[in-house]
Amino acid sequence: GKEVVMLSLRLSGCVWSMLTVTLHQTFAATDAPPTAAPQTTAPPPAPPARPERGNYTVTNGNGTACLMARMGLQLNVSFSSASLNKTVLEVVNLQPNLTKSSGSCDLDSATLLLKADERATSLTLVFSLNATSSKYHLSGVTLLAAWPDMHAGNRSLDYLRGTLGRSYMCREEQTLAVTVNFSLNTFQLQVQPFGLKGDQFGAAEECQLDEDDMLIPIIVGAALAGLVLVVLVAYLIGRKRSHAGYQTI
Ligand SMILES: *[C@@H]1O[C@H](CO)[C@@H](O)[C@H](O)[C@H]1NC(C)=O
Ligand SMILES: *[C@@H]1O[C@H](CO)[C@@H](O)[C@H](O)[C@H]1NC(C)=O
Ligand SMILES: *[C@@H]1O[C@H](CO)[C@@H](O)[C@H](O)[C@H]1NC(C)=O
Ligand SMILES: *[C@@H]1O[C@H](CO)[C@@H](O)[C@H](O)[C@H]1NC(C)=O
Ligand SMILES: *[C@@H]1O[C@H](CO)[C@@H](O)[C@H](O)[C@H]1NC(C)=O
Ligand SMILES: *[C@@H]1O[C@H](CO)[C@@H](O)[C@H](O)[C@H]1NC(C)=O
Ligand SMILES: *[C@@H]1O[C@H](CO)[C@@H](O)[C@H](O)[C@H]1NC(C)=O
Ligand SMILES: *[C@@H]1O[C@H](CO)[C@@H](O)[C@H](O)[C@H]1NC(C)=O
Repeated sequence: GKEVVMLSLRLSGCVWSMLTVTLHQTFAATDAPPTAAPQTTAPPPAPPARPERGNYTVTNGNGTACLMARMGLQLNVSFSSASLNKTVLEVVNLQPNLTKSSGSCDLDSATLLLKADERATSLTLVFSLNATSSKYHLSGVTLLAAWPDMHAGNRSLDYLRGTLGRSYMCREEQTLAVTVNFSLNTFQLQVQPFGLKGDQFGAAEECQLDEDDMLIPIIVGAALAGLVLVVLVAYLIGRKRSHAGYQTI
């Protein structure tokens, strides 16, 4: 009886140390970012708060939605300013209530056009569908804005890869580099550029960033479940042994 209990104690000690290691790593990981990135030169202006999440829809000629997107968008732009005589870095949020969406849908491409009054911004996102593989992706991003004069675009991108009839989802912040001077940060993104049924998103395909985020709770949960199981088995074995002991006496 004692040996079994000792063994199970040792086993649960093992699970405990696994758990503490996991927890330690979790905290180490969350502690890391603020201490990193030492600034020696003049710090860039503080980035604005998280952008608000907007609902953007593109409709067909007959009024049915053919592209839907829910996301917060942040533009990260660097440009050379003649008046300041230097390269300026700016981070700007797209305000959903001041942004108008339009666009068009074809068989193998869908376009979302977002227009904001602020700096006469016009942001175009083009999604392409490969009918052979039934996969879509974000293939092009173009930005026109008065910054005082910014036009940056790239038609050979490969982001937000999803399957026809399903939506692509990424809760975590994602950075989509478009050109050296322009990148797009997405927040709490869900988008479906093809195969919408009614005004509803299809099943969501989660991005890798979100899956990595899910991993730590799963590991901790599994370790806890293992611990409970070991204690339970030890208890049951211990009880059985002591019963047997009484019977022989
Ligand atoms: C966006 O759409 C979702 C679901 O369709 C809805 O719950 C939410 O209220 C909408 N948000 C805005 C700002 O329209
Ligand atoms: C609207 O048009 C699309 C193609 O342009 C078609 O697939 C869809 O069935 C139409 N919906 C209705 C309600 O007519
Ligand atoms: C903007 O982009 C620059 C590099 O192009 C990067 O150093 C900076 O961290 C980015 N800022 C945000 C808020 O994404
Ligand atoms: C793009 O950024 C670089 C520095 O990163 C700058 O030298 C260049 O002038 C910028 N281009 C434009 C069009 O603003
Ligand atoms: C811009 O800065 C450079 C050095 O950084 C200087 O040589 C040049 O004269 C400046 N031009 C103007 C218009 O201030
Ligand atoms: C848009 O939203 C911002 C932030 O929520 C708010 O300050 C502003 O008043 C709103 N503007 C309009 C026209 O609704
Ligand atoms: C579409 O997918 C098929 C199969 O994965 C691939 O062979 C083909 O090159 C793709 N077409 C395009 C235009 O990317
Ligand atoms: C467009 O994006 C591709 C893939 O990310 C990159 O290799 C290419 O340099 C970009 N083109 C420009 C003009 O920035």
